Amino acid sequence: MNTDIQPLRIVITGGSSGIGESTAFEMAKSGHSFYLTGRNEERLLQICNELKTLGCEAYYGVGDVGVEEDVEKHFQDAKEKLGGVDVLFANAGVGYFGNLEDLTIEQYDAQFNTNVRGVFLWINKVLPLLKDQNKGDIIVTSSNLGLKTGARCSLYAGSKHAVQAMVWCLRDELKGTGVRAATINPGSVDTPWFNGKDVNRSKMLAVEDIAKAVRFIIDQDETSNIDHILLLPGKQ
Ligand SMILES: NC(=O)c1ccc[n+]([C@@H]2O[C@H](COP(=O)([O-])OP(=O)(O)OC[C@H]3O[C@@H](n4cnc5c(N)ncnc54)[C@H](OP(=O)(O)O)[C@@H]3O)[C@@H](O)[C@H]2O)c1
Repeated sequence: MNTDIQPLRIVITGGSSGIGESTAFEMAKSGHSFYLTGRNEERLLQICNELKTLGCEAYYGVGDVGVEEDVEKHFQDAKEKLGGVDVLFANAGVGYFGNLEDLTIEQYDAQFNTNVRGVFLWINKVLPLLKDQNKGDIIVTSSNLGLKTGARCSLYAGSKHAVQAMVWCLRDELKGTGVRAATINPGSVDTPWFNGKDVNRSKMLAVEDIAKAVRFIIDQDETSNIDHILLLPGKQ
């Protein structure tokens, strides 16, 4: 562990799996403290215990990122347990794919409540605190589908374009402050997201690729303000 590094208080939504989990372990190499959220308590508990064995403070909150009461409770809990927040990694997300006429209203609600409302709620709560301290990072997991479109992606790409625009507008609002906002925009990443699906995972990005990109954003100097990082698979 590098003891020269300033310890950060990092909130990760969707910390129970995939990109969120991997990012926690990547950042744990530099110490730091964590508050992870998700709905799967067993996984959150297991990951927090592993982070603690690495010497990090780690807490979790169980709930739905699209439910205001849950986010408010987790935000207050994170502030109290960590003593503040320096980094919000708004990463929780789901994906519903298919031709538009085959998608359901229930899928629409789940898609936008998680991927858009969940991101809005967290940023909305954390931002005043970060602005008060004139320092902090907000990183949102968008997608390559936040920057382009494609068949069978209407709901998912719609949700990611929405958070992409949200972050770009926020960046304009943050000009002149010490608070930064950025997105990461991965192509397909080999995560539990694809469990049980008939897809070739061997050519996908690894979760560690995304975790390192998030670290790169968090670790950038004050002279830098990354807008987004687009990651595409190296194996074609
Ligand atoms: N995998 C890819 O190819 C890929 C590519 C580009 C972008 N992304 C984005 O990456 C992010 C993370 O996905 P992943 O690939 O790491 O998938 P994952 O392993 O399925 O992780 C998704 C995470 O989101 C959480 N989550 C989902 N719905 C939630 C809800 N309603 N309330 C609270 N937490 C919720 C899950 O926690 P619980 O299960 O505990 O609720 C889990 O921790 C998503 O935003 C996704 O859109 C993924």
